[in-house]
Amino acid sequence: MTTYKLIATAAMGLEAVVAKEVQNLGYKTTVENGKIMYEGDEEAIVRSNLWLRTADRVKIVMGEFKVYSFDQLFEQTKALPWDQLLPVDAAFPVSGKSIKSQLYSVPDCQAIVKKAIVEKLKSSYKRMSFLDESGPSYKIEIAIRNDVATLTIDTSGAGLHKRGYRVGQGEAPLKETMAAALVQLTNWRPDRPFHDPFCGSGTIAIEAALIGQNIAPGFNRDFISEEWPIIPKDLWDKVRLEAESQANYDQPLEIYATDIDHSMVEIAKENAIEAGLGDLIQFKQMQVKDFTASRDYGVIVGNPPYGERIGEEEAVETMYREMGEAFEKYPTWSKYIITSHPSFENLYGKPATKKRKLFNGFIRTDYYQYWGTRPPRKES
Ligand SMILES: C[S@@+](CC[C@H](N)C(=O)[O-])C[C@H]1O[C@@H](n2cnc3c(N)ncnc32)[C@H](O)[C@@H]1O
Repeated sequence: MTTYKLIATAAMGLEAVVAKEVQNLGYKTTVENGKIMYEGDEEAIVRSNLWLRTADRVKIVMGEFKVYSFDQLFEQTKALPWDQLLPVDAAFPVSGKSIKSQLYSVPDCQAIVKKAIVEKLKSSYKRMSFLDESGPSYKIEIAIRNDVATLTIDTSGAGLHKRGYRVGQGEAPLKETMAAALVQLTNWRPDRPFHDPFCGSGTIAIEAALIGQNIAPGFNRDFISEEWPIIPKDLWDKVRLEAESQANYDQPLEIYATDIDHSMVEIAKENAIEAGLGDLIQFKQMQVKDFTASRDYGVIVGNPPYGERIGEEEAVETMYREMGEAFEKYPTWSKYIITSHPSFENLYGKPATKKRKLFNGFIRTDYYQYWGTRPPRKES
């Protein structure tokens, strides 16, 4: 086993949530903008990919160094131990970005990194001819920021939000990673009712069900590093089997997913069935103003329309008012609403207990939290 420097990448605003998940897997973290850094071996790579619900990707840091010229970039890249990870037939596309740095031509940086790795592999594997790149894939990135180059290899492949269950979607689906974060930022516990009144394609409710039964979010998909010789196949099998035994399929859940749009409810149902959670979520066509609950101390998480589209604003504002009135009847429930609407609290009729700045893709939003009353303490 080798120890690698790893990065779990996070959407802006979700760093603390991702860091907590990485810590829960047993690793010490340091956090920078959009990056959670930690150290771990091959098993850490497998476990991170399979278990992280809110990270975008998991990457290996191959090297980090100051760079001011193409010669330096070439030599320092070539000096890194690429041959310890990449086999002679590795396919390795190089992508790049450069921010506030002397080396600003990204295509040139990519070409130089590529050439340096080719040279390194040719000399390590004693190849005179070209490398045919017919083997497993290694997506390499050269990122230069303030003249510091970071070379990484992606271990995830498709972003971790691609869980594999979304067979259908509506107009503005949430990323699965963001939906999981919205659930994790609440006080929901699996023994309490949960309701998404704007379910769209069902992402929030499905992520809640996965969390509620402790099902690994990556159980239904593959990862690019499964092809790599450095990670034994049986390690993937072992971690998958462990995940299977850690899932708590007997945990009863009371999760509701409703939407005004009949066709969205059907799509959400299909996605839940694809995730293997069809029986766990109760779907219904319903307007938010008709919200009712038969139990206390539940949690609502909602991603309503933000009213940004032309012609939509007035209807959305009326709906926010009606939502506030409907939810007000349930003081024991906690309500969490994500929106970019600047007057949300006014329209809803109440200032939030707390709000948190989040980015839904490129849209700056607030996550408005209205905490419900606490259940009475049990007499002992
Ligand atoms: C931004 S989308 C939700 C996307 C969802 N989170 C997903 O991942 O697919 C907003 C949803 O709210 C629904 N909606 C709009 N007005 C509503 C209302 N008054 N009551 C309930 N649902 C409503 C829309 O049909 C739409 O599906």
